[in-house]
Amino acid sequence: MDDTHSLSTLENMHALAELGGGQARIDRQHERGKLTARERIEAFVDPGTFVELDKFVTHGCTDFGMEKQKFLGDGVITGYAKVSGRLTYLFAQDFTVFGGSLSAAHAAKICKVMDRAMEAGAPVVGLNDSGGARIQEGVASLGGYADIFLRNTLASGVIPQLSAIMGPCAGGAVYSPAITDFIAMVEDTSYMFVTGPEVVKTVTHEDVTKEQLGGADTHTRVSGVSHFRVPSEEAMLALFRELLSYLPQNNMEEAPVRPTDDPVDRLCDKLDSLIPDNPNKPYDIKDVIHEIADEGRFLEVHAHYAPNIVVGFTRLEGRSVGVVANQPAHLAGCLDVDASLKAARFVRFCDAFNIPLLTLVDVPGFLPGTAQEYGGIIKHGAKLLYAYAEATVPKVTLITRKAYGGAYDVMASKHIRADFNFAWPSAEIAVMGPDGAVKIIHRREIANAEDQDATRQELVDSYRETFANPYRAASLGYVDEVLVPRFTRKRLIQAFDALQNKRQELPPKKHGNLPL
Ligand code: HXC
Repeated sequence: MDDTHSLSTLENMHALAELGGGQARIDRQHERGKLTARERIEAFVDPGTFVELDKFVTHGCTDFGMEKQKFLGDGVITGYAKVSGRLTYLFAQDFTVFGGSLSAAHAAKICKVMDRAMEAGAPVVGLNDSGGARIQEGVASLGGYADIFLRNTLASGVIPQLSAIMGPCAGGAVYSPAITDFIAMVEDTSYMFVTGPEVVKTVTHEDVTKEQLGGADTHTRVSGVSHFRVPSEEAMLALFRELLSYLPQNNMEEAPVRPTDDPVDRLCDKLDSLIPDNPNKPYDIKDVIHEIADEGRFLEVHAHYAPNIVVGFTRLEGRSVGVVANQPAHLAGCLDVDASLKAARFVRFCDAFNIPLLTLVDVPGFLPGTAQEYGGIIKHGAKLLYAYAEATVPKVTLITRKAYGGAYDVMASKHIRADFNFAWPSAEIAVMGPDGAVKIIHRREIANAEDQDATRQELVDSYRETFANPYRAASLGYVDEVLVPRFTRKRLIQAFDALQNKRQELPPKKHGNLPL
């Protein structure tokens, strides 16, 4: 047998491919506290399950002497594996080869796994660590990016797409993760921006560091571009395994059921006294979520962005549920631009992937002010309304305290096709709060009263008794049941159980016109 056909040649090629850009660059990656692309894949998937594709692909560039610089695999490792026993397609960019930059061949490898994932109905996880477009390849590289963007878009709502940012992600390259369902960033070692600090300095004369412009804190707290930030790469991979456990493989399947020992009829005694007597006092809505969830578990999404609304995944009787909850502990739980966008995107994700929605309502209304109006609260609030109205997954709503004004309608009210609506006795459901309402409808009466304060208080009390309670809504059937709080877990499980085979269709259309 000649040399080319010998087993040792194949073994040597494997060894060469596995060395990526060489030991020196691997050492450099480690010195920066980063794993290599291969190490990341090994840490992420079930042991021994990764099957690599296109390991010997090289680029076809002949400019800038590139024909003499070829690395097997061309800066990205692609393939499929099992994650918690479930098929998952992956790509991991290898920073040791041309800085993980994207050539036409590198892009084609990513497109290939995306195509296989779409056909097989399995999630795609991208581990991003790249200097962006391969500069030597010019427009061929830009074309490669666009090929990926197209696939991200076509796959949206069909298979879950997760993006881990584990190094640089700059220029137009950010738009692939941006189209995917979830982005997570590693603190201190990852960043995302459309133009870097030098360009910013030239154009706007702003001095800004990479971290300030596009680090994990910026994108999880300020811009909301990233859903999660994690302290280490290991934490990132553990997070993605957990996240995938809540999701179905594709839009035609249900999320897997995780058996639980937590009794369906477990009483949540803590909930009977959770709501403060004073309606203006805050409490933490996450206490409610943890109390009702299987084993108290809740995977919060977008925890650092718009904390006045809480979204994330939990399980009830082993089944995945997406939770959207106003948070009275921040901005009194008001809906603003950021909260509306955060919740709308989450609702649409859950609806696309057959994950039932639980909405916990304690909302005094939309946040007033010029900042909100100029920022487009009308169109952004409309997105949340639209997302809820359009969602056909099982929708269960619980009003714990306030549900005022337009926000009552928006937060999965009966009128926009929530299936079961519950309220606790502490609920206040009305057009506006007692103080504001009395000021408007009894203005003259108060002005003419001898003791204005006493009269105002009397009118406020009377309004509260008549309207600021759950019974008016219950008498109209807008609330199906006023619940004793400690029975909440049991009743929610019963409700989702009754909705398991829910089928609801939207009118035929190409797509709606979401108020973007
Ligand atoms: C080719 C690249 C590269 C690139 C890095 N390298 N980026 N090669 N194309 N885009 C190579 C370097 O030459 C170097 O090779 C190795 O990768 C590591 O890079 P270093 O600079 O040594 O690493 P570091 O100091 O950590 O800096 C990383 C970096 C920097 C911040 C990413 O390399 C950088 O600024 N690169 C250029 C980024 C960029 O402008 N990309 C184009 C963006 S526009 P050796 O052989 O020395 O190891 C874009 C448009 C996409 O992406 C549009 C889509 C629509």
